[in-house]
Amino acid sequence: MRLLSTIILSFSFFYVVAQSNRLIINTDLGSERISRHIYGHFSEHLGRCIYGGYWVGEDSDIPNYNGIRNDVVDALKEIGVPNLRWPGGCFADEYHWMDGIGPRDQRPTMINTNWGGVTEDNSFGTHEFLELCRQLDCEPVICGNLGSGSVREMSQWVEYLNSDNVSPMTDLRKVNGQEEPWGVKYWGVGNENWGCGGNMPPGYYANEVRRYSTFIKNYGGNRLYKIACGPNSADYNWMETLMKNGAPGRSFQGISLHYYTVCNTWAQKGSATEFDEGGWFTTLKKTLFMDELLKKHINIMDKYDPQNRVGLIVDEWGNWHDVEPGTNPGFLYQQNTLRDALVAAVNLDLFNKYCRRVKMANIAQTVNVLQAMILTKGSQLVRTPSFYVFKMYKVHHDATLLPSVIKSDKYTFGEESIPSLSATASKTDDGTVNITISNLNPHNEIDLTCELRGGDKLKLQSASVITGSKINSYNDFGKAEEVNISGFEEVKQKGNKLSIHLPSKSVVLVRLK
Ligand code: AHR
Repeated sequence: MRLLSTIILSFSFFYVVAQSNRLIINTDLGSERISRHIYGHFSEHLGRCIYGGYWVGEDSDIPNYNGIRNDVVDALKEIGVPNLRWPGGCFADEYHWMDGIGPRDQRPTMINTNWGGVTEDNSFGTHEFLELCRQLDCEPVICGNLGSGSVREMSQWVEYLNSDNVSPMTDLRKVNGQEEPWGVKYWGVGNENWGCGGNMPPGYYANEVRRYSTFIKNYGGNRLYKIACGPNSADYNWMETLMKNGAPGRSFQGISLHYYTVCNTWAQKGSATEFDEGGWFTTLKKTLFMDELLKKHINIMDKYDPQNRVGLIVDEWGNWHDVEPGTNPGFLYQQNTLRDALVAAVNLDLFNKYCRRVKMANIAQTVNVLQAMILTKGSQLVRTPSFYVFKMYKVHHDATLLPSVIKSDKYTFGEESIPSLSATASKTDDGTVNITISNLNPHNEIDLTCELRGGDKLKLQSASVITGSKINSYNDFGKAEEVNISGFEEVKQKGNKLSIHLPSKSVVLVRLK
């Protein structure tokens, strides 16, 4: 009798375990679009992001077009960059745009006080940035200087960029070689004004954003989308004050949020490549905090803006590790492993989940800085694991978010647990359903049952995977890639059910039509 009940208990336990990973997707529902701008990027005058990263100058031996590296542009075209935020970051609030126009050999220099104290020669300025955006076919997102600039300076920059009238600023633009206005739409009204952008209290900044935005004008048919400086991480008081007193909808159409994943402490963040399972787990756990942040900030926004007119713009996010040994600590150069790929996937899933409100996000910072897509060394280039997640997730750009429910095993480390799975399901205009699923567990493969509800006669088209042999697998110069996208066979379809055998520490894409 005892034996029988043990067998029954074990069987039912096995059954529950076997059933515990389920994804239910309503393929005929969904009303929210995942803006492609969630997949945006950020590039600051910091370390080797601009100089050596994008910009080598026309006389360089490195193949370039108008001074911009061809290999970097070609690689970034693979991931479809929808927008690029520039010139900072903290740099934005000490940048004076007029220093970066006109003949390059006559531009004044400045000290980049935030990032290594190096001399900035201003050879990459407004025209060069907009040429980069033209080559990438992306929307520019320019962050103006509110901290150490003036209302006049910001107002003139917008006039220089966007006016088609006869004016001193448009004359200057034409002298500098640009006849037509660029029509820049996305405009940041300062950066981190609670910190490096002026150490302002929220009430003071709320007044400033109203004043500045009064004088940055719409020209011709171009309507500016102004992005106010929003909170640092869980500073809900900043969000509350701005939404209450900053005239949302009129003085800004978007408000930013900055949140970086830091494994240990700001003083000792931890190595990008040398970490154990504790470093893997903690990093993913801290990344999942983005869920709570988005939920709580959106609740505040909903209170003051029930019509959902103002977008939440997560314009700085990603992993912030210690710099690579032997590199300038002010340059924030870090390697990028499979752990970074999972962090990218989890964050992107969360932005997709809250796409009703999250209208743009910008990972920091594209080339050679923080959680970069690309690393360069001289003429060499490496595509990072994070690059491949952005490439895989292209299928979600401007697709409709499909309501879905995921039930997953816990991934437990020590006394703590997080869910093992993270996912997004979306549908493109041609009816293709794309499902991305990440297995955060570094040891266990997971059998996932995916149920497609809604009666669409969907057929499995293809599947692909990003994984590596180790939690810290990475791609390096002169070596074969350890992490990239490869074909995936472990998906079986039976009617409206999919059985997916997810490898440990992986990101998988399944496509159906
Ligand atoms: O991305 C690096 C820095 O992080 C940015 O300049 C600043 O906005 C943030 O503190």
